[in-house]
Amino acid sequence: MTTRILIYAWVGAFTLGTLYVNAQTKKHQPVDAKIDAVIKKLTLEEKIKMLHANSKFGSAGVERLGIPGLMTDDGPLGVREDVKENWSSANLTTDSATFFPNGSALAATWNPSLAYRYGHDIGEEARARKKYIILAPAFNICRTPLCGRTYEYFSEDPFLNSRLAVQSVKGIQSQNIAACIKHFAVNNQEFERGRVNAEVDERTLQEIYLPAFKAAVTEANAWTIMSAYNKLRGVYCAENAYLLNDLLKKQWGFKGIVISDWGGTHSTVAAANDGLDLEMGSFGAYDNYFFANPLLDSVKAGKVSLKTIDEKVHRILWVMYHTSMSENPSPGKINTPQHVTTAYDIAAESIVLLKNDKQLLPLNTSHIKSIAVIGDNATRTFHLGGFGAGVKVRYEVTALAGLKSRLNNKVKITYAQGYKGVYKPMRKNVPNEPDKQDTTLLNEAVTNAKSADLAIVFIGGNREYESEGHDRKDLSLPFHEQELVDAVTAANANTIVVFVGGAPYDLSKIKKNNHTIVWSWYNGQENGNALADVLVGKVNPSGRMPFTFPAELKDSPAHALNAYPGENLSVEYKEGLMVGYRWFDTKKIEPLYCFGYGLSYTNYQYQSITIAKKAYKAGENIAAVIKLKNTGKFAGKETIQLYVSKANSMVERPAKELKAFKKVMIRPGETANVALSVPVKDLAYFDTKTSGWVVEPGKYTLLAGGSSGDIKVTGNITVVN
Ligand code: BGC
Repeated sequence: MTTRILIYAWVGAFTLGTLYVNAQTKKHQPVDAKIDAVIKKLTLEEKIKMLHANSKFGSAGVERLGIPGLMTDDGPLGVREDVKENWSSANLTTDSATFFPNGSALAATWNPSLAYRYGHDIGEEARARKKYIILAPAFNICRTPLCGRTYEYFSEDPFLNSRLAVQSVKGIQSQNIAACIKHFAVNNQEFERGRVNAEVDERTLQEIYLPAFKAAVTEANAWTIMSAYNKLRGVYCAENAYLLNDLLKKQWGFKGIVISDWGGTHSTVAAANDGLDLEMGSFGAYDNYFFANPLLDSVKAGKVSLKTIDEKVHRILWVMYHTSMSENPSPGKINTPQHVTTAYDIAAESIVLLKNDKQLLPLNTSHIKSIAVIGDNATRTFHLGGFGAGVKVRYEVTALAGLKSRLNNKVKITYAQGYKGVYKPMRKNVPNEPDKQDTTLLNEAVTNAKSADLAIVFIGGNREYESEGHDRKDLSLPFHEQELVDAVTAANANTIVVFVGGAPYDLSKIKKNNHTIVWSWYNGQENGNALADVLVGKVNPSGRMPFTFPAELKDSPAHALNAYPGENLSVEYKEGLMVGYRWFDTKKIEPLYCFGYGLSYTNYQYQSITIAKKAYKAGENIAAVIKLKNTGKFAGKETIQLYVSKANSMVERPAKELKAFKKVMIRPGETANVALSVPVKDLAYFDTKTSGWVVEPGKYTLLAGGSSGDIKVTGNITVVN
């Protein structure tokens, strides 16, 4: 009865809808049959209304049948605040949410169970906010480090990407909230994203750019997917029959809704027939949308069949039966202690120790009595910005606040801003950021640094500098930060650099001149607490880079081959499979920091790899055990990475590819035997002649270690027919 009353309230002042009654009385009827029965009752006009937006984030239901409207919301970093029709804040007091670390931070944990918890908690918050489709996770491959959304996405590697995508989706959907995986496909740059065409060869598409989407659909059963703004091979992704009909719906068996990116639909008939189900947009005049009156006319003119329309409505109702119409009575929860713990745990496991040559970290508070905290990023918050990825938090702990709360009784802390992180991306013909160093701020920072035992400089990007809608121009440090680091380092030899960012930057000078470097991210509302705990040693850093840092931009594949941002609105993915570390390893180019890189306060000694058998057949799993010892004084989490390489292959192959990984806690002095398994089918390449996956027989080498550049133990196996 209580459930009934709740649902009454939710449906609103209208009568309890027929659909709900049907759902109750025909509980045991298969969902598809229930849906078909409902579709029979709908008029064509009602169906068409369900296929396009009627507000910023919603589409219409059918009141007379009790079909609720569809309600979506962004996005990867937490459930977005409500907005008005002009995109400004709705100024509500009921639309806050937990701010979780950004996508590349989550990826840097190399911990799929955290991805599940992130998804679960976002799902729970989406329920509380009654947003039944959450526009996340976002996981386009990091093809160029300049892409403005690198921070929202996970990685340059399809395997790491897939494992995180699958768990995020499972977590979200465990709450009967639909994940909307995005952006399908190859939205790898923001520059001209609305018009650019990506020319990607089929093998590269299948092996690099699609695996995480495929896994999220076939393994995690993602209920919705967002088509990308760009074109693939000359056809917009929102009307790309190959992507949407052939691959997604037919081959992968996707049963849910293909939702356009906002304003990313370009036609009525082509989009409707070629796989798009729901048109969303950024601005009003909803009746004029391609999938509104023009779609109605096209059906009447026989250009789009009724069967096609019914199939789309079926998909929408199918998702509703799993979400808003599901029997899940949970009212959801916002910002619970559990959500806060998840945000903290992700942040704590994402921070990457890049350099610690002087053993300044963890901070020795019996010697250090004063710290000069310097830099705009020490006091900046990161929950807002980046268009769709903003969250209205209840609080966000800045780095300075975190350090103060952890150290204040023991250590004197001063703060100087050092630089102003002001960035205005849309300005034309005037600099986007201050063109001169602010010498007053610089001098104050130097004075503070001189009189303290230790200085911590917080530099990096911010949520305006790295954002949807634009790519960075290059990898250089913004806001005259290099000058600040140089001046502070000259003033105090005990200077720690903390870089806050979501994508690779040019840290070469800092790597050369500074002995202590820590990488943090747009790390959620617990950012400052997690960071302070890493600095004081309460948390041993265990983050590993989810992408390669090139020493110079021109070393990065798309840039080395002059294949970014494209010419005449077309970009050829000339590097093919050689994305990220695949390129650096194969071409033997030394990166600044390799894929998988990250230090710890302890050391791990890899001792051996034992492989269960010498020969494997298709259908089997290769079982390997890696033995390693924690030889240092701190307990720590090590991520054992297992790459596979195939010499003398019949086809082009990268030097090695990640095929398994596991993060394990190892106590000081303890030896761990870590079991990893690689299905033989995962060694397959995509054969364009047969359009199928082929496992080549012969010898393969398994390479295990702490990063792509630090392989410690290897072993061989043979795949036999
Ligand atoms: C972004 C999507 C986002 C949508 C709604 C678009 O600009 O590309 O990722 O979900 O806006 O905010």
